Amino acid sequence: MEIVVLADHVSVGELVGSTIADLVQNDPATVLGLATGSSPLPVYQDLIDRVERGGLDLSGATAFTLDEYVGLPPSHPEAYRSFIRRVFTLAAGISDDRLKTPEVAGSDIVGSCARYEQAIRSAGGVALQLLGIGSDGHIGFNEPTSSLGSRTRMKTLTDQTLADNARFFDDDIDQVPNHVVTQGIGTILEARHVVLVAAGQSKADAVAAAVEGPLTAMVPASALQLHPHATIVLDDAAASKLTLLDYYRSAYARKPEWQGI
Ligand code: F6R
Repeated sequence: MEIVVLADHVSVGELVGSTIADLVQNDPATVLGLATGSSPLPVYQDLIDRVERGGLDLSGATAFTLDEYVGLPPSHPEAYRSFIRRVFTLAAGISDDRLKTPEVAGSDIVGSCARYEQAIRSAGGVALQLLGIGSDGHIGFNEPTSSLGSRTRMKTLTDQTLADNARFFDDDIDQVPNHVVTQGIGTILEARHVVLVAAGQSKADAVAAAVEGPLTAMVPASALQLHPHATIVLDDAAASKLTLLDYYRSAYARKPEWQGI
């Protein structure tokens, strides 16, 4: 696991944006795994800027999102398909048919979860999975005690996540859907590179538990300790509770540039 600590959220976006841009330049048909929420927004802005400057073409890439709320109409602005189109894929030139999101309408959620897993496999698997982290340590919407081997399925959000996400729903916790479909932890771990981004003091405890705490289903993001290529990119505030912070900083400063992240 590599820990990269940068001065601010914009710098986090630039580093991860340049990594994704390199990947797509090497393979225009790259399969990307996208997260929603606030954490990846500077990454998406960096990529959109590159596309608008003419330095990057994302039109051949395919994108799979991590999760989707159950119970919101697809037209709802906070349905994750609407959200990711609005903040990223429309401006980035990724067409709707290349944007894959979990299907949550209808009664066959179990079948649609299995089809989502199959679609990821058929696409050749995810090359780079972008992740945020919940203040309770979740990745995707795998809440504490999620099986570390879990696959795409329906989950119930914790009260902490409902409260955290109320900001997207006029600060009204009652409007936040209780249920989601999310890629499982086992699904996420199959991506060839996982990049978790976090910014702000509110993420510091969860980051420290995930990176330096024990591997435990109580902190789903700790499962990234098992991944052979996991990169955690943080701003100073999100990194502030890491015990080995000086080591992470000096290791990154001494890293040969050709290695990338
Ligand atoms: C979103 C997702 C979640 C978020 C997490 C952090 O697709 O999978 O794990 O990444 O809840 O959310 P933000 O970034 O809004 O703090």
